[in-house]
Amino acid sequence: MITVPVSLGDRSYDVVVGRGARHQLASLVPERAKRVAIVTQVGVELEVDPGVEHRVFTIGDGESAKTLTTVEDLCRRFADWGLTRADAVVGVGGGLVTDVAGFAAAVYHRGIPVLHVSTTLLGQIDAAIGGKTGVNLPEGKNLVGAFWQPSGVICDIDALDTLPAREMRSGLGELAKYHFLGGGNLDALDIDERVARCVEIKAEVVGGDERESGRRAILNYGHTLGHAIEVATDFDLRHGEAVAIGLVYAAELAHRLGRIDTDRVAEHRRVIAAYDLPMRLPDTIGDDDLMDLLARDKKALDGLTFVLDGPAGVEVVTDVDPEVVRDALPAVRSSR
Ligand code: GLY
Repeated sequence: MITVPVSLGDRSYDVVVGRGARHQLASLVPERAKRVAIVTQVGVELEVDPGVEHRVFTIGDGESAKTLTTVEDLCRRFADWGLTRADAVVGVGGGLVTDVAGFAAAVYHRGIPVLHVSTTLLGQIDAAIGGKTGVNLPEGKNLVGAFWQPSGVICDIDALDTLPAREMRSGLGELAKYHFLGGGNLDALDIDERVARCVEIKAEVVGGDERESGRRAILNYGHTLGHAIEVATDFDLRHGEAVAIGLVYAAELAHRLGRIDTDRVAEHRRVIAAYDLPMRLPDTIGDDDLMDLLARDKKALDGLTFVLDGPAGVEVVTDVDPEVVRDALPAVRSSR
C-alpha cells in the first residue's frame, strides 16, 4: 500500500493507493463520526465498510445527474436520516460521484467531512484529489461548486480491473498528461506505483496553489483544446481521448512558439501512441468552430490562454497569437 500525503496545513490528508485499499477506509473516517452517508451510483461494484453505522444513497448516472437538484435531493435525504455536522459523507465512484458527494458535503450544515473512494483511473489520478467539487448548470459544466478538501482518499487499484475499456482510456489521457508534469518515465512503473506517482504530482501542485490562483492551472495541460473538442463533438469523444489530442496539439503549438524542439514534440506523440490514444482531430470539426470555442474558454485569463511546455517546464501562457493557434491545427489533422 502506498500512502501519499496532501499537505494543506490543518486540512492535510492522506491518499491511500493500492490493491484492497478500500479496507483502509475505516481508519480514515474522522473519530467523532457516528454515521456515514455513502454516496454512490448503481453499477459501482466496490463495497466499502466505513466501520460505523452507514446508509447508501444512490445518485443517477451521466452528466444529467450532476445538478443542483441532485445535491438538494441528497441533502434532504441526509437530513431525513438525521446526519449531523459531526458525521461524514463518503463518495464511492468516479469523478461524477466524488464531485457531487463532495459538493453536497461542502454545503450540508455549512460543511461536513467527506472522504472519497475513487473507482476510476480518471478519478484516482485527478478528480478525487485536490478538493474541487461541483455540479453543472444548463449554461455550462462545473459552473457551481466549492473547494472542499476531503479528509482522506482511497484509490483501490482492484476497481480498475472491471473498468470498461472506454472508461480506462479516458483515464489514460489524464495519465499521459503527468508524463510532462514531472512524471518522467511513468512507463516503467506498475499501475499502483503509476497512480501513486500521479497523485504525488497532483498533491504537490495542489499543496502549493490550492485555489488555482496560478500554478494549479498546469493540471489543465492538454485541456484547452481538449475541452473544445469535447464540446465540438457533443462529448462523443471521452475526456481522456480529447485531452490526448489536446496534448499533442499543445506540443505542436509550443514548438511553433519556439518553446520546445521537435524531439520533445515527438516525445508527446510517443507517449500518446503508447497509451493507444487518438492524436488526430475528428474530421467533423472545423478550424473555425474550434477557434470560436477556444475564444470562449472559461479558464482564459488574457486573450487565448494555453498551458504549454517550455524551457522552464509546463506553464500557463496568456495572449497566444490566434494566427499561430490556427496554424498549428493542421498538425493534429494529419497522422504523423
Ligand atoms: N482537475 C484539475 C484540478 O483539480 O485542478
